[in-house]
Amino acid sequence: MAEYRVAREGDLAEGEKRVFVAGGVEIGLFRLDGRFIAWRNACPHQGGPVCQGRIFRRVIAEAGETGRPAGRRYHERDVNIVCPWHGAEFDIRTGVHVGSGLLRLAPVATLLRDGAVHVAIADEVEHGDGA
Ligand code: FES
Repeated sequence: MAEYRVAREGDLAEGEKRVFVAGGVEIGLFRLDGRFIAWRNACPHQGGPVCQGRIFRRVIAEAGETGRPAGRRYHERDVNIVCPWHGAEFDIRTGVHVGSGLLRLAPVATLLRDGAVHVAIADEVEHGDGA
């Protein structure tokens, strides 16, 4: 496990994100509720740069008395990111796909120390050709 200093605490305002490379791994760093959350920038669908997608509050579709769509609104707290390749949508706080709990972003540990944000990257396992 290797640790990398990636930002100062004040570099990201509430609700902002930054994508960077640390230890050869692309990472998306988000600030929500005053804390830092990091995910690998690889969509579990087909590997797209999910952390470079758009951020917005979760949309709640509302049905009328007949069951037909009657409008929509934005959730007060839930914030999602949408993968720019095919539109898969993930809760930024949990990394879980909003439509399927089977798809999840890969977490990256964050640590706030001395006013700086650090991430911990697991050492990659080298795979030989088996020869
Ligand atoms: S690669 Fe992200 S939605 Fe397909």
